[in-house]
Amino acid sequence: MLKVILVAGARPNFMKVAPIYAEMNRRPDEFEPMIVHTGQHYDAAMSDAFFDDLKMPRPDIYLGVGSASHAVQTAMIMTEFEPVVLEHQPDWVVVVGDVNSTIACALVCAKLGIRVAHIEAGLRSRDRTMPEEINRILTDSISDLLLTTSQDADENLAAEGIPAEKIRFVGNVMIDSLLEHIQISGSSTIREDIGLTENNYAVLTLHRPSNVDEQETFSGIADALIEIANKLPIVFPVHPRTRAKIEEFDLKDKLSSAGVMMVEPLGYLDFMRLYSGARLVLTDSGGLQEETAVLGIPCLTLRNNTERPITIEMGTNVLVGTDRDKIVDAAMKVLNSGTTDAGTKIPPLWDGKAAERICDELLRF
Ligand code: UD1
Repeated sequence: MLKVILVAGARPNFMKVAPIYAEMNRRPDEFEPMIVHTGQHYDAAMSDAFFDDLKMPRPDIYLGVGSASHAVQTAMIMTEFEPVVLEHQPDWVVVVGDVNSTIACALVCAKLGIRVAHIEAGLRSRDRTMPEEINRILTDSISDLLLTTSQDADENLAAEGIPAEKIRFVGNVMIDSLLEHIQISGSSTIREDIGLTENNYAVLTLHRPSNVDEQETFSGIADALIEIANKLPIVFPVHPRTRAKIEEFDLKDKLSSAGVMMVEPLGYLDFMRLYSGARLVLTDSGGLQEETAVLGIPCLTLRNNTERPITIEMGTNVLVGTDRDKIVDAAMKVLNSGTTDAGTKIPPLWDGKAAERICDELLRF
């Protein structure tokens, strides 16, 4: 019987932890899981809504860390997490993704000699100005078991000198959640609530510091959105970081009068209902590049790089950067042809069974 702590901290973690927790509960003779929530994300819309939609119980332990600078937030998570690990003495700590909670908890365990498994290991944007890239490189370098979503990630890890016996290609656990919930999300009335019909709108998400923290960049993106919204309404669930910047840069009236519909951050099922019926998705999120790839929804990524190149090679994703004209041209192309130039194949092992393989690998290690 393996005692496992599953760490969740920020919004993109919850849909990765839920299928692993459920699978471990289906195997009570093999696993005793508990969920530790660091509190990196704490708003009801950024956190609680996901526990409800994913039918996860409240976390066993809530560290209540909240927002702060990167150094303070990471240090506070470490300070709060260490006594939990010492008290519970797990056989494994499982961390997911690339947020500050991921590196903070992995580092605590590495120092205590407690085994860490990193889910979604090996992704690299090769852009070290991204806080997530630093978190990815550091977490992978100190984890005992590196579970990957795609074979390019295995190659990245090998190139960094990580021994092959630590690396296992298990597929994409976030897609387990997607496939499990896509039908259930049909009961969401979000499209009707907003007054939109399938295929007659675009969905936008934007929250990367590199896109929203500087006025010049954000204004350029906003100009592109205004142009696109002339042709197709854009629904924009606004992340708290982005909302603060929209106010600061005085972009709210400009965007809304052009047809960009700004709404509160949405829960997992409402958001799935929304993007799964969109004609076009514009985003700087990592997860949404993968979700649109699986559903075959054209996705324009407003970044100059991606740590998820397989979504371009096999999926529907196109990198368009942050230049106004490039974004508009790419969007018009999709509106005219209905697709991006990218492919529409589902990457290998994005099949809804990654949690099973993750549990098998933890047992086998
Ligand atoms: C974090 C992750 C990012 C992930 C994103 C998803 C890191 C380094 N970044 O970025 O990889 O894509 O989450 O959302 O871990 N805030 C609230 N309520 C909340 C959470 C945040 O109001 O529940 C506000 C706070 O003002 C905070 C700001 O959002 O300062 C940023 O939050 P933070 O967790 O620091 O980073 P994110 O930008 O959300």
